[in-house]
Amino acid sequence: MKKILVINYSQSGQLNEIIDNFLIPFSEKQIERVYIHPKNKFPFPWSSQEFFDVMPESVLEEKIELEPFNLKSENYDLIIIGYQPWYLSPSLPTTALFKDENFTSLLNGKPVITIIGARNMWLNAQESIKEFVQNAGGELIANIPFIDRNSNLSSAVTILYWMLTGKKKKFLNIFPYPGVSEKDIKEASKFGKIVFEAFQNESYHKLQNKILDLKLINIKTNILFIELRAKRLFKIWARIIKNKGLSNRKRAVWIKLFKYYLLIALFIVAPIILIFFNLLIKPFTINAINRKKDYFCSVKKNKNAGRLHNKNI
Ligand SMILES: Cc1cc2nc3c(=O)[nH]c(=O)nc-3n(C[C@H](O)[C@H](O)[C@H](O)COP(=O)(O)O)c2cc1C
Repeated sequence: MKKILVINYSQSGQLNEIIDNFLIPFSEKQIERVYIHPKNKFPFPWSSQEFFDVMPESVLEEKIELEPFNLKSENYDLIIIGYQPWYLSPSLPTTALFKDENFTSLLNGKPVITIIGARNMWLNAQESIKEFVQNAGGELIANIPFIDRNSNLSSAVTILYWMLTGKKKKFLNIFPYPGVSEKDIKEASKFGKIVFEAFQNESYHKLQNKILDLKLINIKTNILFIELRAKRLFKIWARIIKNKGLSNRKRAVWIKLFKYYLLIALFIVAPIILIFFNLLIKPFTINAINRKKDYFCSVKKNKNAGRLHNKNI
C-alpha cells in the first residue's frame, strides 16, 4: 500500500484543522500524521515582547531543537508538509524540520506538497521552502496556501489580538474573526480531493494548475508589493539585533525598536506608499505584476523570476 507522510507544527491548532479537512478525501490507512513540537515551547498567547523576539532567528532561518518524533517508514510515496510563515520566513519549528537530516533524507526523489496556514504573507517563506525541498532532492508538486482574506490592515490588527490574547474572536466586536475563515478551512477538502486523485493516478503533472483552477488562491497586488520589499528590511533588522543585542537588556531594547518600526511601517508608511504605487506605477506595470503572481502561484523555483527585489514593480 502506498504511504503518505503528513507533518506539521501548529501553535493554535488552526493549521491542524486546515490539514484535517484537507485529508478528508484520503484513505485514512494510507496516512501517517506527525505533529512536531519545539523542545522549548513557544508561548501562546504571546506577550508582545516574545512575539517580536522571534523575528531575528526566524528571518535568519536558525535551527532550534525539536522534540524527537518517530516515523514508521523511510520510504513514503508522498510527503505533505504543513507550515506557517513567521516574519515572511518559515516558522522556526518548520525551519528546524528542514535542518533535520533524518527528515530531509525522506524527501530525496519524492513528490512533496506544501500546505500553508498564513495571515496573508507567504510568498517569501515559500521561496525558502522551495529551496529547502530542492536541496533535499524532493520535487515540489503543489502548494496550497490558506490565508485571512480580510484587508491587510484589518487582518494585522486581528492577528495581533488573537496571538496576544489567545482568543480567536472578533476584536471589539467590530473587527472580523482573525485568521483563515471557517469557510476556507472547511473547503480545504476540495483541494484534498484533487490531490488524492492525482495521488491515486500517480499523475502530478499539472496538479498545481488544477489546484489554481479552483480559483480559491489569489495574490493581492498590494501584498505582492509589500513582500517584494519587506524581507530585505527584516534581514537588515535581524542582523542589527543579533549584532547589537548581545545582552538580554540590549536585545530587549532593539526588539522594542523593531516592534515600533514594524507597526509604523505597516500601519502608516505602507498605506501611503501603496496609494502612490496604485496610482502611478501599477497601471504601467500590470504585465510584470501578473508574471510575478503567476510565478509565486507556481511550484517553480527560478532564481531570476523569483528575484524579490526586482524593481520592475
Ligand atoms: C511570530 C509570528 C509571526 C507571524 N508572521 C507572519 C507572516 O510573516 N506572514 C503571515 O502571513 N502570517 C504570519 N503569522 C501568522 C502565522 O503564519 C499563522 O497563520 C498563525 O500563527 C496561526 O498558525 P498556527 O496554526 O501555528 O496557530 C505570524 C504568526 C506568528 C506567531
